[in-house]
Formats: sequence, C-alpha cells, structure tokens
Amino acid sequence: MKGLILSGGKGTRLYPLTYTSAKQLIPVANKPILFRVIESIRDAGIEDIGIVVGDTADEVQEAVGRGGRWDVNITYIRQEHPLGLAHCVKISRDFLGDDRFVMFLGDNVIQGGISPLISEFAGSAWNSQIVLTRIAHPENYGVAELDEEGHIRRLVEKPKEPPSDLALVGIYMFDHHIHEAVDKIAPSQRGELEITDAIQWLVTNGRAVHPYVHRGWWIDTGQPGDMLEANDLVLEELDYKVEGYIDRDSQVGRRVTIQRGAEIINSVVRGPSIIGENSRIINSYVGPFTSIYHDVVVENSEIEHSMVLEHSRIENVGARIQDSLIGRDVNISRSPIKPRALKLTLGDHSKLGIL
Ligand code: G1P
Repeated sequence: MKGLILSGGKGTRLYPLTYTSAKQLIPVANKPILFRVIESIRDAGIEDIGIVVGDTADEVQEAVGRGGRWDVNITYIRQEHPLGLAHCVKISRDFLGDDRFVMFLGDNVIQGGISPLISEFAGSAWNSQIVLTRIAHPENYGVAELDEEGHIRRLVEKPKEPPSDLALVGIYMFDHHIHEAVDKIAPSQRGELEITDAIQWLVTNGRAVHPYVHRGWWIDTGQPGDMLEANDLVLEELDYKVEGYIDRDSQVGRRVTIQRGAEIINSVVRGPSIIGENSRIINSYVGPFTSIYHDVVVENSEIEHSMVLEHSRIENVGARIQDSLIGRDVNISRSPIKPRALKLTLGDHSKLGIL
C-alpha cells in the first residue's frame, strides 16, 4: 500500500501567515501539520509516500526532504494548477501504479489512532474506504447519506441542503478502480475534479465503498480559528516532557513540554502548553493552550491561548496577549519613545485587535 498526501493550494484564508509559507507547514503544538500526516501514514506501515505539491513546492521539499527522518521514501508530484482532489489522483497515476493507497489531505488534523484503520484497508476486500464524521456545518464539505443498514446511498460535494450531518474527512482509501472513476467524472461548478464525485461513481458502478464513522475530533485547518482549535486539541494529547531548563523562581505546570535548549526564567507556565527549542521565557506568564515555537523570546509579557512561530519576540507588552496567531520573525514590544502611541508595521491582510 502507498500513501498520497495533498499539499498544494495557496492557503488564502490564512493570509498573511501563508503569504510566505505553506499552510501545511504551520506547526500545531510545535510540529508542522504535514509532519503529523506523514507520521500517521508511516505508523500504518506504509513506506512509499507521494506528496502532491503546488506553488509552495520548494518550501515543502526543503522541510520534508526525501523522508529519511521518518524511514519513508518521498516522491514529489507537481500539480501546476489546483484542479481538484481527483485531479491529484490523476497526475499521481505513475507513482501509484495499481497499488492500494491512502490519500490524506495535508492540512487535516485528526485525533490519534487513525493508523490501524489505514493498515486494515490494505488487507480488506473493499475497493474504497471513506472516513466520515458528524459535524455542525456539513454544507462546507463533502456529505454522505447512509441507508438504514449503514451503506452509502449517495455523496454530494458542499450541498446547500445537506442530506445528513456526516462530512467526508480528508482521508480516503482506494484500490485501482479509482483511476477509472477519476477519468469518467467531469469538473464541478467550481471547476475542479471532485474526489466526492469520483467516489459516487464507484458507488453507482457497484464497487464496495465502506464508510467508517470517526468518533474523535477532526479539524480541517482552513482559517485562523481552526488553527488555534487544532492546537488546543493536540496540546491536550501530548506526552509532556521537560528537556529544557527551568530556574528555581519559575512555576511550570505538569502538562507543559519544554523542548531542548529552552529556558524558563522567573516565569509562570501553565499547561497544556509547549515551549520550543532555544526559546526563552523571562519574567513572563504563559497560560494554557499556548504553543511557543523555536527561538522565540517572551520577556516581561503575558500570553495565553495563542500560537507564536519561530524567531518572534514579545517584550514588555502591557496587556495580555490572547487568542492570537503570531507568525515568524514578528516583534511586539512597548516602545519608550514619545509620543505614546501604537506604532505598527503590519503586512497586507493583518488583523490587530486593540484594547
Ligand atoms: C475537500 C473535499 C471535501 C472534504 C474536505 C475535507 O474540500 O472536496 O469533500 O469534505 O476536503 O477537508 P475542500 O478543502 O477542497 O473545500
């Protein structure tokens, strides 16, 4: 069995964070989402993984490399234009051959324990397995309608009036029959070849598509609020470890991970939270549900329920920072220079909430 990860797209809804970087590389609880996806596939016993890349190909390749870190072999497949998930299967035909495979969207974060489901499919008689979950707003996703016996009656992509609350999670398993299906379907109204339509084609043509209903959490990280939510959920599941330094004047909660080279000086850190490699927390408060990534400095400041990416500095900020997503190389500080005013250099699409 092979793995296929989709890591194209522009991530426009996450601007400005994704102006300069791929959304799949944003770290959730200090690990890029894409790395979490690779680990889930590797843990299912799969060694050959293809990654479909688009405009952010260089950055993805630089971060992931050839897969040695995970003991897998990575093949990159270039998609010139975002023409849909089924189009990704089409252009990956040479890589996939006639093997069974799992296709995993590189921006989906799902509660642990999905790997056994993937490896079970390898030995099953099903032509496909899809993962469904009950959600409040299924109209934004592919939606499945099941009959009384739990078999698939039909699948529809982003229906205005959803026939059920069962959304298609971005994890799909197929055998070679999917190649015929993606060749037979036509582009949808949004101009994309929809994987939902290809799976419907399998159902219509008598192939065995098994719906698995996932009962844990699942987040499709399209927007900033989703990122924070995914971060909260993953932080709660971490194996907490202290590998950095905590001085005697600090208080650090039980559910806190301090990564290598990090230093906590005269500060309070409450969990669940994580402080990244070589970051320094000095005379500060870091509250629950916060991820501070690598090489960050937080000094004389307070922050909670937030994510801070690498090389940023937060210094002498009078108000507590909360519910915030702070990118790379950002500086937030109180300036002694008169007049007393907010002095901002914000990129396009920035959002700033003022007291
Ligand atoms: C895609 C699929 C949709 C699925 C969703 C899961 O949507 O088309 O069926 O429910 O991924 O994340 P898109 O992200 O392209 O809007």
